[in-house]
Amino acid sequence: MEARKLPGVDDGYGTDSVESRVREYITRCYAEITVGQHIPLSAPLVALVDRIEVKGHSKSEAFPDSTRYSLCDSNLEIAVYELHATEDVNTHDIAQDPDCASLPMPFSLCHLPNQAFDGYWEALVYSEPVGEHMLRVLTGAIRKFHNQPTVFIQNAWYNTVLLSGPPGSGKTSLAQALAQRLSIRVSDIFPNSILVQVDGSGVFSHMYGGTAKEIGSLFTKIGQLACDDSDDTRLVVVLVDEIDKLVPCRKSVGKKNEPLDTMRATAEVLTGLDKLRKTLNVVWLFTTNLPEDLDPAFVDRCRLKEHVHAPAANCVYDILRADINAKLRCGEILVGSAPRDGLGEIIGDCTTNGTSENGVPLCAAVDDDNIPSLVWAGKCSPPAEGTAAATLQCIAANACGLSGRNLRGLLDVALFTYFVDETPSLSDALVALERVVQKEARQAGSGRGKSVEMMAQRKLVGQDGDGELPTSNHGACSRPPLPIDTNVYSSDY
Ligand SMILES: Nc1ncnc2c1ncn2[C@@H]1O[C@H](COP(=O)(O)OP(=O)(O)OP(=O)(O)O)[C@@H](O)[C@H]1O
Ligand SMILES: [Mg+2]
Repeated sequence: MEARKLPGVDDGYGTDSVESRVREYITRCYAEITVGQHIPLSAPLVALVDRIEVKGHSKSEAFPDSTRYSLCDSNLEIAVYELHATEDVNTHDIAQDPDCASLPMPFSLCHLPNQAFDGYWEALVYSEPVGEHMLRVLTGAIRKFHNQPTVFIQNAWYNTVLLSGPPGSGKTSLAQALAQRLSIRVSDIFPNSILVQVDGSGVFSHMYGGTAKEIGSLFTKIGQLACDDSDDTRLVVVLVDEIDKLVPCRKSVGKKNEPLDTMRATAEVLTGLDKLRKTLNVVWLFTTNLPEDLDPAFVDRCRLKEHVHAPAANCVYDILRADINAKLRCGEILVGSAPRDGLGEIIGDCTTNGTSENGVPLCAAVDDDNIPSLVWAGKCSPPAEGTAAATLQCIAANACGLSGRNLRGLLDVALFTYFVDETPSLSDALVALERVVQKEARQAGSGRGKSVEMMAQRKLVGQDGDGELPTSNHGACSRPPLPIDTNVYSSDY
């Protein structure tokens, strides 16, 4: 369980006191608890904490999150944390930090947990619990080996994670979110966590042997940060993006220009990792789009290897749904207002009287001012035709194959394109989104490297991709609805 302390709260005893108050509150009010359960705050706690979340359990992955745990039988772990200010991110760079002046490499430091990464974990949607799995293993390893240092030394554990996947699949965000969550989870052991971010593609020196030297200095610096005698409470998470630039496969590099420098750089990474492999408080997170280009000796040193896929159809629905719901909540899209007259002329066919062809209100599946999850909408399955959920299902089917990065910006593009100085109704916003998705999917299918995945999807659903816009699917969906898959991992339900 995690309790976020309000900024500046200090009741004289530090976090311990907040922890004991939260514990007292939970054990008094609850007999059982489930992961994801909403915990409302009562009067004494609202002055101390901003939220209390049941974020996970420490049983094996075989236990589903829906398991109800009796508080009498379970060990309730409560992590109390406070977010560091966003300004800490990227401001503490080599130019300002004399301590790091010897490091010409492009990198930045920030404290964890940080406001900059708040909400990242919850916003990422995958079909598999990829983040939860990595968090579980890293937390388990740190806890076990911290308590049994001799076992740790014998194991020569590498805290190394390699995230591979297509562009925009959320690797960097997931790594940042993982670093944030890990810092909270092990805050009782390491209350001072920092994140060092390195841009692998920016590490290049024109001097002969310079790149290897820079890499060597980075490892020395990480070692100093981790083994600081004045602070043994520090966890150092190092995120290296585009690691393929630093450790390309030496066999292939041998045939290119300047092979010696690149080979020396790769060797420097390998020996650097070996030197720090017994340093429990260093965690390495590497990301790459090109796992096949990596040197095998490097891949072999990565303890956890996860492929991060582009969002599957159900995930696309949830990503778009989260963006729409956020705008519904802040009033940038209106649930109740009637669709705008004349919109159909501007952006294509659409029903403008607020009902589908069958007379079903377009917003019938908006529950509590939110488009529901597919699981919820499908309870009386499938979602009723003409509802916002059913319309979004069709849009998601069209958007399948786009990257998470592409999907995240689409709603804004739709609203900026079609609604200048006015607030659209939900049904208008959905029509606009559908239009933009169609355009994006056509471009992605014809121009960019994602075409294979897109084409496969299109064949599956029978779209010929001839450039004609489909009619609006209000009331009559031109595509089969997505199957309802309950395995979508995101907490934004
Ligand atoms: N599965 C997903 N669910 C929700 N949002 C996603 C998902 N995948 C990507 N995003 C969003 O897309 C944006 C880009 O993500 P990010 O930079 O982490 O991707 P990446 O895999 O590191 O890309 P690249 O390979 O180009 O570096 C972020 O805002 C992220 O939140
Ligand atoms: Mg990235």
